[in-house]
Amino acid sequence: MTAIMKARVCTRKEFSAIFVFLAVFVFTLLLRNTDNLKEKESPRSRTSSEAGSSDKSQHKVNSTVIVPKVSSEPDMHHSFCTFQPRSPEDALEERLLLDSIAWPETPPLSDPLSLDQTSDPAHSTFTILPGRTGGQWHVGDQLEVMIKMSDFHGRPKKSGGDFLVARLHNQKLGAGVVGQVVDHHNGSYSAVFSLLWEGDAQVEVMLVHPHEAIQVLNRLNSEQPDRIYFKSVFQSGSLSETTFCNVCLRPTQPLCNYTDLRTGEPWFCYKPKKLSCDARINHAMGGFNQDLNANEDKLFQSGVNLKVSIQSSGLAIFIVLPKTKDQSEVKSSIVTSGPSGYYYQSVWRALDGTTVHQFNNASAITQCLKGKVVHMYGDSTVRQFYEYLNTALPDLKEFDLHSPKKAGPYISLDYANNILVTSRFHGPPIRIVVVSTSELRYIANELDGVIGGTNTVVVLGVWAHFGTFPMEIYIRRLQNIRRAVVRLLNRSPGTLVVIRTGNLKALPLPVSLTNSDWHSLQCNNVLKTMFKGLNVHLIDAWEMVLAHHLPHDLHPPPPIIKNMIDVLLSHISSDGPLTLEAPTHAR
Ligand SMILES: *[C@@H]1O[C@H](CO)[C@@H](O)[C@H](O)[C@H]1NC(C)=O
Ligand SMILES: *[C@@H]1O[C@H](CO)[C@@H](O)[C@H](O)[C@H]1NC(C)=O
Ligand SMILES: *[C@@H]1O[C@H](CO)[C@@H](O)[C@H](O)[C@H]1NC(C)=O
Ligand SMILES: *[C@@H]1O[C@H](CO)[C@@H](O)[C@H](O)[C@H]1NC(C)=O
Repeated sequence: MTAIMKARVCTRKEFSAIFVFLAVFVFTLLLRNTDNLKEKESPRSRTSSEAGSSDKSQHKVNSTVIVPKVSSEPDMHHSFCTFQPRSPEDALEERLLLDSIAWPETPPLSDPLSLDQTSDPAHSTFTILPGRTGGQWHVGDQLEVMIKMSDFHGRPKKSGGDFLVARLHNQKLGAGVVGQVVDHHNGSYSAVFSLLWEGDAQVEVMLVHPHEAIQVLNRLNSEQPDRIYFKSVFQSGSLSETTFCNVCLRPTQPLCNYTDLRTGEPWFCYKPKKLSCDARINHAMGGFNQDLNANEDKLFQSGVNLKVSIQSSGLAIFIVLPKTKDQSEVKSSIVTSGPSGYYYQSVWRALDGTTVHQFNNASAITQCLKGKVVHMYGDSTVRQFYEYLNTALPDLKEFDLHSPKKAGPYISLDYANNILVTSRFHGPPIRIVVVSTSELRYIANELDGVIGGTNTVVVLGVWAHFGTFPMEIYIRRLQNIRRAVVRLLNRSPGTLVVIRTGNLKALPLPVSLTNSDWHSLQCNNVLKTMFKGLNVHLIDAWEMVLAHHLPHDLHPPPPIIKNMIDVLLSHISSDGPLTLEAPTHAR
C-alpha cells in the first residue's frame, strides 16, 4: 500500500508542471463557459413555496466575481465552494479516495439530449453462465451472470458506466444476498453471487441509472451544489430578517461565515441587511431548485430507465444443491470481495465474523443494554434506531426535551436498568424543520465530549444530507469524525463504535437529483475505506436493504430495522441474549 502511495505521489509531482498548464487552460475555458452558461440558463422551477422572492438574483452567477482558484486539485469545479486548507496527508487521502470512486468516463451527452443511444433496460438482458460445473451449483460456489446492455434501438452498448445492482433471492425461504457487479467497460457487466442456501434461487438485476444520468448527477453536484438551499432567521428585539444559507454559497453579496473553528466545517449565510451575523437564531431547509438542461429529465424516468429490472435471456431461477463432502468450491475469478451478509429465514447473517443474535423481546434487549450509555449521532436513519428502542422497551422512558419533532435531540432513560439512550442530529448541511442554532452540533465536537468506556456505545450514521455536494464535503466531514473517533478510542479503548452505512431508497425524480443511490454508494465506499483498520463496526445498511424483498426506502421498514438492531445489539453483547447471567460489563 505504501509503495503504491509513493508511486502515485511521484507521478503527481512529475505531472504538476503539465497540470499548471492544464489548469490555466481549463481556467480560460471556464471563464468562457460561464458566459455561455448564463445565456443558456433555463428558468429554475421553484418547488418550495417557503422561499422568498429575492433569492432569484442570489443564485445568478456573477462571472466577474467567481474566480476559480488554481488549486492543487485537478477538479476545477465548484468554484464557489471554499475549502479550508488541509494537511498534506488529508489532501493526499482525499485524492486517493476520489480516484478510488472515479466513475468510468463517458462520451459527452448529445445536444439536445436524445434517449436513443442511452441504456434501455427493456432491450438489455442477463444470462446465467453455466460455469465450469456445466450448470450444477452447490452451496459454497459462486454463480456468475453476464449482463448485456443495449440502447433504445436495441443496439448493444459499447461503453460502461451504467449503475446496476443485483441480488439473489428466495422469498419463501426469506433468503436474499447482494451480488457484486463488475463493469467490463464494453457494454457488458458481470454479477457474481455467493451461493449460501440450499434450494431455489432467483437472480434479479436492476438498472438504477444509465451512465448518462450519472454524468448529469456529477455535473449538478459540481455546478449546482446549492440546488437544495437552506435558510436562517436573524432576530434582535423586534427586528427580524431571513437569508439563505449553504455549505457552498455564491458570493454575490456579503456573507456571514459560520465555519466551525474546531473542525473547519464550512457554513455560510448571506449577511442580513440590518442585523449582524451574530443574530442568527435558527436553521431550516429552504427548498430545491430543479434546473436541468433540455430533456435531461428523460434520463430519470421510473419504469423506463430509473430502477427498472432487466430480464433474463433464459431462466432466472436455478437450484442450489447441498454442499458435498469432497466438493472443491467454484469461485469466480473476477471478484475479490464477497457480500457482508445475507438473509436466511428473514434473519440477517453476517459474513464478517460477527455472530448475529436475535433480540426478540424487551427483556433480551434490556439485558443487553443493562448499564450502557448509547449515544446516537447522525441523520434520520440513525434516529430510527432510537425510535425502535423506545418502542421496543416499555421501561425506556423518553424525557421530553420539547425538541422539534424529527429534529431532536432526544434522551431516554431506563432508571432501574441504568440504561441511557440519546440521539442527536449531525451538523449542517441538514434538510430539516426549523431548529435552533444552539442545537447545531458537529459530531466530531460532540464525540470530544464523550468520556467513553466499556459501558459506552456510540452509533454514527451520516450520509443522507450530502447528496447535492461535491464528494470533498463528505470526505472532509468523515475525516473530522474519524479524528474524533480515534481520540475517543485512544482515551477509552473499550468504547464500542458502530457506523451505519447509507442505503438504497425510492427514487422519484427530485430524490434522484438530490440524494441518488449512486451518491450513497459513493459515500459508502468512501466511508468503508476511511474506517478500515479502526476498531469500529459497520452496519451494512446498503446490503441489508438491497438483499431484502421489501421496497427500497430511505427509512427502511421495521423488519429491516429489526435486523439492523440485532446486529447492533450483537456487537454490544457479543455473547448474545442466551447468556443472561453474564456480568453486564462483559463484552
Ligand atoms: C466485454 O468484456 C468481457 C470481459 O473482458 C468479455 O468477457 C466480453 O466478451 C466482452 N463483451 C463484448 C461484447 O465484447
Ligand atoms: C458583479 O461584479 C462586479 C465587478 O466586481 C460588481 O461591480 C457588481 O456589483 C457585481 N454584481 C453583483 C450582483 O454582485
Ligand atoms: C471563513 O472562516 C474560516 C475560519 O475563520 C476561514 O478560514 C475562511 O477562510 C473563511 N472563509 C471565507 C470565505 O471567508
Ligand atoms: C425473550 O427472549 C429470550 C432470548 O431469545 C428468551 O430466552 C426468553 O424466553 C424470551 N422471554 C420472553 C418473555 O418471551
